[in-house]
Amino acid sequence: MTTLSALPPTGRPLAGPRTAAGPADTRPLGSPWPASAHPGPDGELLIGGVGLAEAAERFGTPLYVLDEAEIRHRARAWRRALPHAQVHYAAKAFLCSAMADWVAEEGLGLDVCSAGELRLAADAGFPPDRILLHGNAKSPEELRLARRLRVGRIVVDSLSEIPRLAALAVADTPQRVLLRVLPGVAAGHHSAVRTGADGQKFGFRIAGGDAAEAVARIVGRPGLDLVGLHCHLGSQITDTAPYLAAVDRLVGLLAEIRDRHGRELPELDLGGGHGIRYLPGDGELDPDRFATAVETRLAERCAAHGLAVPRLLIEPGRAIAGPAGVAVYRLLSVKHTADGRAFAAVDGGMSDNPRPALYGSTYQIRPVGRPVGGPTAPVDVVGRHCEAGDVLVHGAELPVDLRPGDLLAVPAAGAYQLSMASGYNLVGRPAVAAVRDGRIRLLIRRETVDDFRAREVGR
Ligand code: LLP
Repeated sequence: MTTLSALPPTGRPLAGPRTAAGPADTRPLGSPWPASAHPGPDGELLIGGVGLAEAAERFGTPLYVLDEAEIRHRARAWRRALPHAQVHYAAKAFLCSAMADWVAEEGLGLDVCSAGELRLAADAGFPPDRILLHGNAKSPEELRLARRLRVGRIVVDSLSEIPRLAALAVADTPQRVLLRVLPGVAAGHHSAVRTGADGQKFGFRIAGGDAAEAVARIVGRPGLDLVGLHCHLGSQITDTAPYLAAVDRLVGLLAEIRDRHGRELPELDLGGGHGIRYLPGDGELDPDRFATAVETRLAERCAAHGLAVPRLLIEPGRAIAGPAGVAVYRLLSVKHTADGRAFAAVDGGMSDNPRPALYGSTYQIRPVGRPVGGPTAPVDVVGRHCEAGDVLVHGAELPVDLRPGDLLAVPAAGAYQLSMASGYNLVGRPAVAAVRDGRIRLLIRRETVDDFRAREVGR
């Protein structure tokens, strides 16, 4: 390895031929890349049989490429691991009409948390009875829309929505509802996503009796059919222990409800949060490991309380979409400073991936469309936005002769990047393409300044 500090600070690109690694290694890259990812000739990187450099040439950059087979495979793996459970894909990780189709075709349900997600799914033809609506602040319009579309389940998150929802449902068929509770379990990769702990905005605390009070207000309302309890502990959880702790608390509450109201609720929704690999050494939550641990514990706890085992619901988002996405950027500048630092600036950044800036998230990054294997040096891969914190990858090991025009690819980009993308600096959100069996098709075109201007209605 050569350190960039040993190189002259100015005069990029560096002189000298690019060094090839000998015979091209075309073995699959493995996780965190999609299973189909493998190097091709001349440093090309193929996903789903499609070269990323070719795709970037055709559709421009930044480009998000989704491997449809990876999404379907992951959806199936969760269903197979939990054949008696209902698996809802969490739309907040990433949603577009094609994604709704894939998830529907694989037999999953959908967790939505806004009228936008609900409308998109319904317009795409997603079966409404397999949709579950969440939200700590559902508007009256959202509740009305959910009722009009006949969504399968609504997760009650506050006392005020109980009479509101009951009023909407009363003259109609009853609405199946779950109650969101706080098991008092903190888990997840960052404090901002730890939603199962007491003391934050979601749901009702079990400790102290808030949840029991909410149950009492729902039970007996003619328009509402309380079918179960719901919790979501946090996101990017790689261990089963927090889920087991939640099972203990939730089953305890199910027993209390049975004792007080004479009703055994038939469903238990443990939310999402299943962790994936961002870096090769990261842990991940395997569907089979999760299923065995959770089902065993659930059966034990229910037996201890003399309860029938409720049907399990889960809501994986990241674990289905995350590993299927690859972001492709083009390098716009390479800067070497006199004090030995190096910055490689790409044509995207915190507007398409706010995760590093928000949570300090780390990513792998790899050149595309050029031979790999030559000397490398650490470089900060930064975005193009007007903030010093707009860093995609700190200290990435990249070829020393990196130059403007080169392409870089980031794996594990399918969840919470596009869905949290913004209009910052009017750069526009990237295009999204899907690959399948060696073919690529554009799903979402790039956002342009005309899109921003189209929303302006006055001056
Ligand atoms: N169910 C509920 C009620 C949720 O709030 C969430 C995620 C999920 C399911 C899906 O969780 P997943 O399986 O995807 O971890 N922006 C953050 C993640 C926020 C997650 C919010 N809720 C990030 O980029 O890490």
